[in-house]
Amino acid sequence: RNMSGVAGHQVYVTRDDMPECGVDLLKKECDVKLWNHSSPIPRAELLKAVAGVNGIYCSLNDKIDQELLEAAGPGLKVVATISVGHDHIDVAECRKRGVKIGYTPDVLTDATAELTLALLLATSRRLPEAIHEARTGGWVSWAPTWMTGPGLAGATVGIVGFGRIGQGVARRVKAFNTARILYYNRSRRPEEQETGAVKVSFDELLAQSDFVICCAALVPETKEIFNKSAFEKMKKTAIFVNTSRGGTVDQPALIEALKTNTIRAAGLDVTTPEPLPLDSPLFKLKNCVILPHIGSAAIEARNIMSNLTAQNILAALKGEPMPAELK
Ligand code: DGY
Repeated sequence: RNMSGVAGHQVYVTRDDMPECGVDLLKKECDVKLWNHSSPIPRAELLKAVAGVNGIYCSLNDKIDQELLEAAGPGLKVVATISVGHDHIDVAECRKRGVKIGYTPDVLTDATAELTLALLLATSRRLPEAIHEARTGGWVSWAPTWMTGPGLAGATVGIVGFGRIGQGVARRVKAFNTARILYYNRSRRPEEQETGAVKVSFDELLAQSDFVICCAALVPETKEIFNKSAFEKMKKTAIFVNTSRGGTVDQPALIEALKTNTIRAAGLDVTTPEPLPLDSPLFKLKNCVILPHIGSAAIEARNIMSNLTAQNILAALKGEPMPAELK
């Protein structure tokens, strides 16, 4: 064993394309094995690969449940995910076994809030449709009512889930001269001074908002909160944006709401399932913009996320405080 005491510890990395900086940090101090194929590791392979390891560097594609923890065995000390979301991890089961959990809060807040704004504008101002028209001859002349959509200035924006990312979205939309920012959060949050965002009930937020943005973590209480009744409570002109998890939405109900113009449009960075099958009705709807879960995909953010994931593992293996432990 070297000075740090982690030499000989085994860490399994579930993908071959994790940003190198983090994987290199691990390699300097412990034995690293990784799934070195470009496609995601199949479940059966993952169960075999983690046998006897001390740490797992995973992503939101990997379900960390009782079966997996069992397969890893009692030597497992830490699971670190390169994500802030942890709905893929059975936290209670990890706790029971004394397995620490690392995640990546804060470092992706700006990237995800930025992408939320990008998706909001792409949806409201119909960018994918407009780009398609420009390239395929639909652009006959400048036309006064063609390709129009609602602006943000003067609008009411409702943010569901007012944690780090929700607040980051609020600060950004405020710069667009919105009239009001409303938010709904399950737990109490101190009144938001900086943006003047006002806490309201979920129903009130749905009824008042021109833009409804979901930034809430997926937990049992937020599962499919955006259901048929929620879409019916929204304005007919509302635009719905989701950059959290697909599971917060009853997707068939959203499809119906978009088809029947119960709401105007939706922008989704997250869906059920992921990837969204090519034959999904969502892909056929002009009033739906779909992104392939790229919220945190800023180069800087992904590098810092990878470093933090590695640092979480190294600290846990050394018995030191982890820089970002899920408590
Ligand atoms: C997360 O961190 O939870 C995102 O979904 C991926 O960055």
